[in-house]
Amino acid sequence: MSKSVQEMSMDSDEPPSAYVVERNSFGSKDSSTLIPIPIIDVSLLSSEDEQGKLRSALSSAGCFQAIGHGMSSTYLDKIREVAKHFFALPVEEKQKYARAVNEAEGYGNDRVVSKKQVLDWSYRLSLRVFPKEKRRLSLWPENPSDFGESLVEFSTKVKSMMDHLLRTMARSLNLEEGSFLSQFGEQSSLVARFNFYPPCSRPDLVLGVKPHTDRSGITVLLQDREVEGLQVLVDDKWVNVPTIPDALVVNLGDQMQIMSNGIFKSPMHRVLTNTERLRMSVAMFNEPEPENEIGPVEGLINETRPRLYRNVNNYGDINYRCYQEGKIALETVQIAHNSDKK
Ligand code: OGA
Ligand code: NI
Repeated sequence: MSKSVQEMSMDSDEPPSAYVVERNSFGSKDSSTLIPIPIIDVSLLSSEDEQGKLRSALSSAGCFQAIGHGMSSTYLDKIREVAKHFFALPVEEKQKYARAVNEAEGYGNDRVVSKKQVLDWSYRLSLRVFPKEKRRLSLWPENPSDFGESLVEFSTKVKSMMDHLLRTMARSLNLEEGSFLSQFGEQSSLVARFNFYPPCSRPDLVLGVKPHTDRSGITVLLQDREVEGLQVLVDDKWVNVPTIPDALVVNLGDQMQIMSNGIFKSPMHRVLTNTERLRMSVAMFNEPEPENEIGPVEGLINETRPRLYRNVNNYGDINYRCYQEGKIALETVQIAHNSDKK
C-alpha cells in the first residue's frame, strides 16, 4: 500500500509523481508581495468610505482581510487549538470520522476524481454545520470534547458576519440590502473545512492545494496563526496572503460572481507547502439553498453591462461535474455576447 501524506511527511520522503505539479504551471515563487491584500474593518462598514473600499477590494482581488469583526485573537486561537488537537490524534482515532469514497463530508485526503489529477499535500475534515437538520453528527469528532460546541459557536459568529457583509456588498452597489442575501435563502448551507498541510520536503514541486476558485457564495478563512502559504491570483500574479492573528480572510466564490453579474470576483487561489512546519486553516463556505435559482441581480444588468450568466440552481453539482471533466464551471454558465450573432 502506498504511504499516506502524513507518513511521507514524517519520513521526509521525496514526493511521488502523483503529487508533482508541472513546473510551468507552478509560477515563479517570488513574483508576489507587491500588491498587498486589502484590510477592511467590518465595524466601520456603515461608512461610505469603508463601503467603497469593500466594493473596490471585491471588484479587483475578490478578497480581503477582515478585522473589527468582534472575535478576539484569543478566541480565534482557541478555535485553532481545537483543530490542531483533532489533527494530532492518532491515525486510528481520526479514521473513525473517515470520508466515504463518494462523499464530501468527513476526514481524509484529496478526493480523487481522475487519473490525471495532481494530488494535494493535505488532509481535510469537512462538516456541514447549517442547516442544522443536515448535520451528520456521526462524523463530528468527540475529541477534543468541546469540538462540536466550539464549531457551532464559531460557525454562528462567522455566519452572522457573512450576512452583514452580504448586506453591505449590496448597499455598496446601490442595491436593496437583501439583493444577495435573499438568493441564499433561509436554509443556506454552511460547510466547515479544517485543512491540514504537513511539511513537505519539496515545496518547489508540490502544492498544499491546487489553484481553484471556491464554488461557494462567500468563504471566510481562519488562517494559521504563524505559518503562511495561501496565495491569491491578482492581475496574473500570485500574491501572498500574510497571516494576521486577529484577521479572517474573506473571499468570494463563483456564486457571488454570478449574482453580482461579474462585478465582484471569485479569485483563483492556491496553497504552497513548506519544509518546516505544519500549517492549518479553517475555511467556512456559505452557499445558497441548492434548490434556489440564483442569477445576476436585475439592478446590475443594463445596456453597457449585459447579463453575463444564466440563472442556475444547484451550482454545487455543476461545479463538481466540471471538476471531474476538467472544465471551468463558471464558463459553462456564462452567456456568450458575440456581436456577429445579432
Ligand atoms: C479551501 C482553501 C485555503 C487555505 O479550503 O478552499 O482555499 O489556506 N483553503 O487553507
Ligand atoms: Ni479555496
